[in-house]
Amino acid sequence: MPKTILYIATTIDGYIARPDGNIDWLTSFPPPESGDYGYAALLESIGTIVMGRRTYEDILGFGIEWPYTGFTTYVVTHNKEYTASTPQTFIINEDAVGALGSIKDTAEKDIWIVGGGALIQSLLNDRLIDAMIISVVPKIIWDGIRLFPAPSEESRWTLTHMQSFNTGIANLLYERQL
Ligand SMILES: NC(=O)c1ccc[n+]([C@@H]2O[C@H](COP(=O)([O-])OP(=O)(O)OC[C@H]3O[C@@H](n4cnc5c(N)ncnc54)[C@H](OP(=O)(O)O)[C@@H]3O)[C@@H](O)[C@H]2O)c1
Repeated sequence: MPKTILYIATTIDGYIARPDGNIDWLTSFPPPESGDYGYAALLESIGTIVMGRRTYEDILGFGIEWPYTGFTTYVVTHNKEYTASTPQTFIINEDAVGALGSIKDTAEKDIWIVGGGALIQSLLNDRLIDAMIISVVPKIIWDGIRLFPAPSEESRWTLTHMQSFNTGIANLLYERQL
């Protein structure tokens, strides 16, 4: 059965963006001497991408070519009028939990949950994240958008893999305990 995998970068103090959404603390970080922090391997394993509406708009704001061509992307919003402007991009604007459950049931490959925090919170509450690859960036920024905004249900995870890079970034793979 395909898994939903959150793959996301966080500061040591648990932020995925500055208060205004800026991720300069992440993009200014160099690539590792070898590899790419696991990104290419992740893309190999997935067929579907899911993200919150704010994350989608941030990516559009980067002014780059759509980076997820070849994948089916779902953008989650409460807005019934919302439309997407990028290839193979669909909107989930009602019963996000039910819709994601159906996507998971019919997917052939794993599903990447991109974030951000608000989406993560609602999916965690509904046990819709099976595994998490948390890339811990060795920075403290004191304020911003939390990786895990409170309140949310408590959950237990097993650390099944760790990888560190010469840049000081560490990838931690956690799988959800039943
Ligand atoms: N560090 C990283 O690797 C990383 C990864 C991803 C994102 N980010 C950053 O995270 C920030 C965005 O995070 P965020 O927490 O502010 O926003 P977000 O989770 O990306 O998007 C929040 C929006 O998604 C919709 N949404 C979320 N859960 C929903 C549900 N259950 N049902 C219906 N709609 C739902 C709502 O849209 P509506 O308001 O339209 O209803 C909500 O306002 C951005 O700055 C982005 O760059 C960082």
